[in-house]
Amino acid sequence: MQLIAGNWKMNGSVALAEAIATPLAAAADGLACELLVCPPATVLAWTAQLLHGSKVMVGGQNCHAKASGPHTGDVSAPMLKDAGAAWVILGHSERRADHGESDAVVRAKAAAATAAGLQAIICVGETEAQRLAGQAEAVVAAQLEGSLPDGFAGVVAYEPVWAIGTGRTASEADVAAMHAHVRAVLVRLLGEGGAGMRILYGGSVKASNAASLMAVANVGGALVGGASLDAADFLAIARAAG
Ligand code: PGA
Repeated sequence: MQLIAGNWKMNGSVALAEAIATPLAAAADGLACELLVCPPATVLAWTAQLLHGSKVMVGGQNCHAKASGPHTGDVSAPMLKDAGAAWVILGHSERRADHGESDAVVRAKAAAATAAGLQAIICVGETEAQRLAGQAEAVVAAQLEGSLPDGFAGVVAYEPVWAIGTGRTASEADVAAMHAHVRAVLVRLLGEGGAGMRILYGGSVKASNAASLMAVANVGGALVGGASLDAADFLAIARAAG
């Protein structure tokens, strides 16, 4: 079963959470995929309450590597769990770029998430310059090697940085090639666990391209940014998944 995950990024209010969660909760039973929404921390508990009893899962967008302590402004994995999250996105390219998150930091956060009972979605992806230089596969392999804790059992999201929020999507052939590459690296790193791991595609996924992207081999779902802020758009993507 594919996983369609919505990353609201730094968007969302109490009112928007309600506008998105209510139709998702009503539609989730009829879907062939799993649905996850990742609101900002300020409305995570509220969103989880709205979705309680539905099949739609809730996740955070980041967590600290420590469980608690003097880290002003940060949120820990046990705090996300306490607020109703079952998942957390880690190592998103915006966090790697805006906050200088290294692979080692992402790895420590993923270990903290697992210890707290959260499923982690670890994001990887090359920049446009790296792709043009022919380094995309090497960059992604290095990110996987550095970011995944030993025995990692969550989900990986391949998100080419140049496709995020730009309206440009990787071609089906590029997605097929990269997802096959990610699969091979996961099998090398994790053995059988890597063979069955879901690999999401992210980067300008929308209703009009979801069906063809979700049909590509080794694509286990989507990580959706902009189109997850509108329930009808997000559900149209979910209906294209299996
Ligand atoms: P986008 O974002 O769908 O707006 O391109 C995807 C992501 O950053 O997860």
